Amino acid sequence: MNNLARYTSWFRGSTPYISAHRGKTFVVFLGGDALAHGNLVNIVHDLALLNVLGVKLVVVHGGRPQLNDALAASEFHNGRRITSATQMRKITEIYGALRADLEALFSTGLPNTPLHKVEINLVSGNFVAAQPLGIVDGVDHQCTGRLRSANLNAMQKLLDTDAIVLQSPVGFSTSGQAFNLAAEELAAELAIALHADKLIMFNDPGELTDNNKQRLSRITPANLSQRCGELETVTAARCRALADATFRGVERGHLIAFAADGALLQELFTADGIGTQVSNKNEELTRSARLEDVADIVEIIRPLEEDGVLVPRSRTKLEQEIEHFVIAELDGVVVGCCAVYPCENTAELACVAVHEHYRHQYSDIGIGSALLEAAERSAVQRGANSLFVLTTQTQEWFVARGFETADVESLPNDKQSLYNWQRGSAVLQKTLNP
Ligand SMILES: CC(C)(COP(=O)(O)OP(=O)(O)OC[C@H]1O[C@@H](n2cnc3c(N)ncnc32)[C@H](O)[C@@H]1OP(=O)(O)O)[C@@H](O)C(=O)NCCC(=O)NCCS
Repeated sequence: MNNLARYTSWFRGSTPYISAHRGKTFVVFLGGDALAHGNLVNIVHDLALLNVLGVKLVVVHGGRPQLNDALAASEFHNGRRITSATQMRKITEIYGALRADLEALFSTGLPNTPLHKVEINLVSGNFVAAQPLGIVDGVDHQCTGRLRSANLNAMQKLLDTDAIVLQSPVGFSTSGQAFNLAAEELAAELAIALHADKLIMFNDPGELTDNNKQRLSRITPANLSQRCGELETVTAARCRALADATFRGVERGHLIAFAADGALLQELFTADGIGTQVSNKNEELTRSARLEDVADIVEIIRPLEEDGVLVPRSRTKLEQEIEHFVIAELDGVVVGCCAVYPCENTAELACVAVHEHYRHQYSDIGIGSALLEAAERSAVQRGANSLFVLTTQTQEWFVARGFETADVESLPNDKQSLYNWQRGSAVLQKTLNP
């Protein structure tokens, strides 16, 4: 495939994600390490692109390495900096400078990018109220604080005007005292409070790996929590925030590399991503179809009908039969479907299709295989003790998943009389265990 063909294919593949992400709220964490990295300018371009595509963005920044450089004499307790009043003044200066640098990057007109002349409004303010962490284990944490509340209403109003909200890890008490907050925790708390759809953490490394050093594209919050103890301190703090947020209602968390150009776009606009996604939803890859899924199903099956792989179905027939359909959904995008029609004590599996951009891609289990498992469960629930399928081009795929060749005569009587001898489909059958 040449570059243009690859670009066209990638762009077409990303279109379902564009509509899935529009209007959603993402909280993005950029630590001090990401702010100091040469790739920051590309990350800013990609965030600007998300903003233009209608994603509501809250950016929370950190500044740990910058504070470490400036406050050589810092003391820590349980990994948390103990902040004196004098240090707090220095910290607000450092955060002020980091904020100004980010504002400048978002304001440069983004020359040499497709976003040239696009105006992005980046707004920061006194959205966060804080309280002292107080005395922990006998240690007074002085100006180190924790989130007391956030002015979600003000943030939401800004997001509704397409502004990007920028939040430093500083909060103020009612007496006006500034408190130093743990940036990762703040990002997680804001994501939870805003009912954000995603919490995105830039990190190095930008992925977790399994025992064979292979990337884990997905992990559940429970598994992530268990792994935090093995991780290096900074990565552990970020993973703890991701696990916390996804436990407490944020639908998805993402760990992404700040050093890799385009990592954010690859994670958000491709099926398998490039980082590690944290979600409780792994097991919910498939679900029963609803009427509003018909348009997506049509988009997946039409090319296959035109190629003669699937028997054509009108849109009206699909609507009438929607209760028989199961779909696979990734990140809000319908990527595959199949239908189960009970018949006597067996059931017919039909219309098995995965969108061409998502075939054989999903790392834990193939989407086609996940649909088949869901179809088998649905058939058993409807009282069937076997499943049969008529196919012209996919015999091997079904045989590899436990189907055996059968005769037309073994089909239920209704199906035998409708069998299309000209099409000559192979009949495959699988016994189901209740
Ligand atoms: C068949 C189909 C549903 C599989 O979807 P999928 O998400 O790629 O499935 P999985 O990831 O679970 O399986 C992928 C494996 O099946 C293999 N495979 C895919 N299509 C196949 C076919 N027609 N025949 C044999 N093997 C096939 C892949 O090579 C891959 O093998 P590997 O794991 O050894 O590398 C998908 O390819 C599709 O939609 N095909 C067109 C529609 C169709 O033929 N439907 C059946 C009509 S009844």
